[in-house]
Amino acid sequence: MRTYLTPLRKIRLMCGIVGYVSKASVDNADHSALDVVLSGLKRLEYRGYDSAGVALVTAGGELETAKKAGKLSALTDELAEHPLPAAQTGIGHTRWATHGGPTDANAHPHLADGGKLAVIHNGIIENFAHLKADLVAEGVEFLSQTDTEVAAAQLAKNFQTTGDLTEAMRVTATQLEGAFTLLAVHADAPGTVVAARRNSPLVIGLGEGENFLGSDVAAFIDYTRTAVEIGQDEVVTITPDAVVITDIEGNEVQGTQYEVNWDTAAAEKGGFASFMDKEIHDQPQAVADTLLGRMDTDGKLALDEMHIDETVLKTIDKIVVIACGTAAYAGQVARYAIEHWCRVPVEVELAHEFRYRDPVVNEKTLVVAISQSGETMDTIMAVRHARQQGAKVIAICNTYGSTIPRESDAALYTHAGPEIAVASTKAFLSQVVACYLLGLYLAQLRGNKFRDEIAAILTELQAIPAKVQRVLDEDKEQVLALARRNQDVDSVLFLGRHVGFPVAMEGALKLKELAYIHAEGFAAGELKHGPIALIDDGQLVIIVVPSKRGRDSLHAKVISNIQEVRARGANTVVIAEEGDEEVREFASEVIYVPETTTLMAPLLTTVPLQIFAMELATAKGLDVDQPRNLAKSVTVE
Ligand code: F6R
Repeated sequence: MRTYLTPLRKIRLMCGIVGYVSKASVDNADHSALDVVLSGLKRLEYRGYDSAGVALVTAGGELETAKKAGKLSALTDELAEHPLPAAQTGIGHTRWATHGGPTDANAHPHLADGGKLAVIHNGIIENFAHLKADLVAEGVEFLSQTDTEVAAAQLAKNFQTTGDLTEAMRVTATQLEGAFTLLAVHADAPGTVVAARRNSPLVIGLGEGENFLGSDVAAFIDYTRTAVEIGQDEVVTITPDAVVITDIEGNEVQGTQYEVNWDTAAAEKGGFASFMDKEIHDQPQAVADTLLGRMDTDGKLALDEMHIDETVLKTIDKIVVIACGTAAYAGQVARYAIEHWCRVPVEVELAHEFRYRDPVVNEKTLVVAISQSGETMDTIMAVRHARQQGAKVIAICNTYGSTIPRESDAALYTHAGPEIAVASTKAFLSQVVACYLLGLYLAQLRGNKFRDEIAAILTELQAIPAKVQRVLDEDKEQVLALARRNQDVDSVLFLGRHVGFPVAMEGALKLKELAYIHAEGFAAGELKHGPIALIDDGQLVIIVVPSKRGRDSLHAKVISNIQEVRARGANTVVIAEEGDEEVREFASEVIYVPETTTLMAPLLTTVPLQIFAMELATAKGLDVDQPRNLAKSVTVE
């Protein structure tokens, strides 16, 4: 039996979901289900764009579906060519692939009960393999690789025994493990959409003679602003005139009603001013989702996607991380951890430099290619080069089915959800977490760490989402004010040692790309070898200070570095661990982050630096989601 890491109460995986019912007859309908569902999907497309699909139930009790891999436009083209009949009941889905590649067959909705039941889903069903085996033994055939189709078949089975879609959904919810929002319609139940949620979002929209369901309010904000929250493990049935919410035992419960006062653009950003702001706030979930389902009850890491032979992993004598930009800084953070845990040398190389150096890689090298998009051409070329030299390649990637994981020997997905803002934030944190999972997995396999040691590290990792949330809750206002006060600076230096060094470089990169000002990240010890000449009166220097409980003397050394720059007139802002009073004396301002271990600290100290860069750019009137000269996915060398 497995249990799974669920560090937060609420796990939010991506995909966009819409449900709609109205009582207008087909003839006088001013809101057809298809129009409402498609407009909701358009607003939710930022949640995923691997495929899209709809299912409608006509007044005559026919279930009609259409689905297509690719963006929503591929589905609307298909519908223009093959229109569906008019209907007042419908569900729709825009997908961010997790189980099964982004194909037509894996697109939602998935059908069961002889094509009469359609289901859409957001989340990951952890016990799908087990359920699927039982269903296959009972003669059920599956057309996709998705966990969703298993949920649909399970729901169909329960519908046959209960004869009631709501009851069947309740029973199904008790049988599923993991994170899910499920929506279902059945040909035999026109005018009804049934849903259930656990660790995945779902909200109701209330209308007059019509009701809505959505992953978030953006799904229906064009039609109603009255929304109702649905609690954990609750089942909801919407009909044109009623919304009934029940708990998992079937007791009726009252959802909390509220009015949405965001405009439509803000709704897609969850009420945040920019996608970047939203994605910074997504980070507790992105970390939690990346940890989800990767440990068994014995505290053993179980990386199911690790398709590289264990004997190969046991005998590798070097790890080379290849990546670009922020992803490369994630690799640099991970290097400290992997070398420490696994006692294997780790090199981190910019992907565009890698193959031109004629690197020494062979069958005994494990190459780790980190990429949010999975489409960065420099990294793709480096992966190809590494494989030609006989190295095994594992991709750490956020985009299912993209080129880098497809061309690698194995892929470990970060489940950060789509990153829309061009500058990377939540991908960075989840890349570090995925690298840590890989490092711990190797340490476990190679016997470098005892089981209890690995469990203790995983426990600290599990605590990170809540700590990131604390940074967001407790530090944001201070960092915003700091950024606004400094909006006219023309240069910022960032200093760090050990894991704080790549954090400093990431902080500088964020500031360069968002605020277009000169910024450099230095290893604090390197300062005296030259860069200290840059320090002048009033120069803003942001220093990432390691924990006093960490590696011997590191804290003291960084304090000395702060004194060196302060003595030359620098304005020193310090990011330090809560309780570190010693740093106050040397800093014009201290931003405290929660206590954690040395190796986990980057997952916290990076966050204020992201907020600082975002706000400084905003204060300068710049577009933080789309900085000049940049593209989200760099598909040229
Ligand atoms: C910086 C940033 C870039 C990317 C880099 C790699 O904020 O986003 O530096 O990290 O272009 O992109 P991926 O991870 O898609 O390979």
